[in-house]
Amino acid sequence: MGAIAAALSLVPSGGTVLVPDTTYNGTGDLLRELESAGATVVRCHASDTAAFLEALPGADLVWLESPTNPLMDVIALEPILARARDLGVTSVVDNTMPTPILCRPLELGADVVVHSVTKYLAGHSDVILGATVVADTERGRGLGMRLHRHRTLHGAIAGPMEVFLALRGLRTLALRFERACASAAELAGRLEDHPAVARVRYPGSGAMLSIDVAGDAQVAERVCAATRVWFHSTSLGGVESQLERRRRQPSEPETVPDNLIRLSVGIEHVEDLWADLDAALKAALA
Ligand SMILES: Cc1ncc(COP(=O)(O)O)c(C=O)c1O
Repeated sequence: MGAIAAALSLVPSGGTVLVPDTTYNGTGDLLRELESAGATVVRCHASDTAAFLEALPGADLVWLESPTNPLMDVIALEPILARARDLGVTSVVDNTMPTPILCRPLELGADVVVHSVTKYLAGHSDVILGATVVADTERGRGLGMRLHRHRTLHGAIAGPMEVFLALRGLRTLALRFERACASAAELAGRLEDHPAVARVRYPGSGAMLSIDVAGDAQVAERVCAATRVWFHSTSLGGVESQLERRRRQPSEPETVPDNLIRLSVGIEHVEDLWADLDAALKAALA
């Protein structure tokens, strides 16, 4: 959140921010704070590329996050970032979910990349840390100095233990993420045919997916309470698999169905994950 706050501080006073209609809910809360302080926030449906391109000329900053959390909508980063660059609109991509293994937004023209290092990069659910990344260009270095100043003035300084844990976790990122992505793809395929699942939201890659259970919020809560291998917790991107009915978080918007469960696939054996989830889904329906 410190990294996100620093990146959003690039919006000038009374400026305009262009965002997808669903973002990580902490970012959504910060955007609402910016709005009360006088900024204009323009929201476009994540998959409506034409709407983004049309709204860009009036914006000071465009904020992108793909796939969106937790609806898993995919945003066409490339054309939006290219147009933003042509227009001189500052662009920021929260790359927490795909990680640099699946997406490298600076190469697509983004000005700033934000990571919740807490998630895949550190990877063991034992550190809270964020990062902002800029290109090694004159424009990038200029933005980097502003982000650095925000960090210093607001005290979001990384502690040595957190940095040590993040660097150690980073060494196994590729192995952890490849395994988690392979398991997520396998689980997404099997869940498509599950009688307790009404909809699978899987963007086609990555280690996260969401499901709408065939039932109401209570059924979804029962699934989350019944798993033994999956943790019912709010974070994501750890070695252990985690799931959560997102609407249990008061700040999650109503555009997120209240029977939606977000799944963050870890590195356990895929058959253990399947057996546990399958049993919990069947028990919740019974
Ligand atoms: C996409 C995304 N960005 C940022 C964050 C915020 O991360 P942190 O908890 O490290 O502040 C989260 C947390 O869930 C997230 O999912």
